[in-house]
Amino acid sequence: MKLVIIGYGGMGGYHAECLQKYAEQKFEFSIELAGIYDIDPARVALANERGIRAYASPEEIWADKEVNAVLIATPNDVHLPYVLAAAAAGKNIICEKPIALSSTEAEQMYAAAEKAGVVFTVHQNRRWDDDYLTVRNIIKRGDIGDVYKIESRVVGCNGIPGDWRKVRAQGGGMMLDWGVHLIDQMLQMIDSRVTSLYCDYSFIYGEEVDDGCDLLVNFENGVQYRVVVATDCFRHLPRWMVYGIDGTAVVEDWDLSGGMTRVLERVDKNLVGIRAGNGFTRTMAQRSHSSVERLPLPVVHAEPFAFYKNFAGACAGVQALAIRKDEVLRVFRLMEAAERSARENVVIKEIL
Ligand SMILES: NC(=O)c1ccc[n+]([C@@H]2O[C@H](COP(=O)([O-])OP(=O)(O)OC[C@H]3O[C@@H](n4cnc5c(N)ncnc54)[C@H](O)[C@@H]3O)[C@@H](O)[C@H]2O)c1
Repeated sequence: MKLVIIGYGGMGGYHAECLQKYAEQKFEFSIELAGIYDIDPARVALANERGIRAYASPEEIWADKEVNAVLIATPNDVHLPYVLAAAAAGKNIICEKPIALSSTEAEQMYAAAEKAGVVFTVHQNRRWDDDYLTVRNIIKRGDIGDVYKIESRVVGCNGIPGDWRKVRAQGGGMMLDWGVHLIDQMLQMIDSRVTSLYCDYSFIYGEEVDDGCDLLVNFENGVQYRVVVATDCFRHLPRWMVYGIDGTAVVEDWDLSGGMTRVLERVDKNLVGIRAGNGFTRTMAQRSHSSVERLPLPVVHAEPFAFYKNFAGACAGVQALAIRKDEVLRVFRLMEAAERSARENVVIKEIL
């Protein structure tokens, strides 16, 4: 398969590197980087410097019979026109997340791809993040008993990155930028329907779009899940907190540091009270060593190149797409409900 990357910026450059490494692996279903297209002459010059062909126009890509696929990594607002044009030209498509700025646009894209009979998928790459797979494994193994609460948090201190991400019409804010990943992970992880949610957006930097969000979701099976995206926090906070009835797990960071504490004795006979501020407490004191045990995280590593392999396999007609239309649209419905909750300051009680 020959693929062209449209939008050779930060993520386009990352994909180009990954695809070059993918090609070296000589997998059964190959993907060859045929070139890039970008409207920025500096990015075109960089591609030339790196020996990557730069197409002169999108039309040149559509007309190239050798090219079977495109990967769209432009700012979010131009995903839609490229997906529609690529589908009409019969090219298989990977589109960066968020595929669109609304569920209506996303549905339009899927309709175009279905009509053209091309493979269309979204780069929800964080389904193959080791930290996320490790949390799933904690739940599956039951190391800390039944899990009733999860906090999934990404925290930065550099504001909203770049230029277009700050423009509502182009980027749509941090919910669409990072929320889309964390919500996709959440819906993959919790096999239950959403019954209610509440969301708060932050505008610390005074941009026209949210620079962070705090989303609380209740599932029918009793799990409560919190998604936090921040761009204004200068201290480290754990990437994941997982609360089970028999213990607590923390995944500190993407480096998989952290661990689990599991209860051995429900009532700690050796509990010692502590001074806390201007008072005394047993309730908030740490457990004695004999009543709990510390365990390492049951780390899971993702299969390398899994996303590209799946796309190539789907294009060859031998694999089902890992990222499905119904999943992508559900994430959009949830993001839209979260936005409504934040805007109107209300709890949304909908089955999602
Ligand atoms: N999946 C992930 O982990 C991940 C990470 C980062 C970004 N992204 C997504 O990738 C996309 C690009 O983000 P980025 O950080 O690389 O942005 P970026 O600004 O670094 O790059 C965008 C590139 O697109 C080019 N471009 C702009 N308009 C264009 C047009 N009409 N036609 C062709 N090229 C055009 C720009 O010149 C630039 O080189 C976004 O949708 C973003 O959400 C995904």
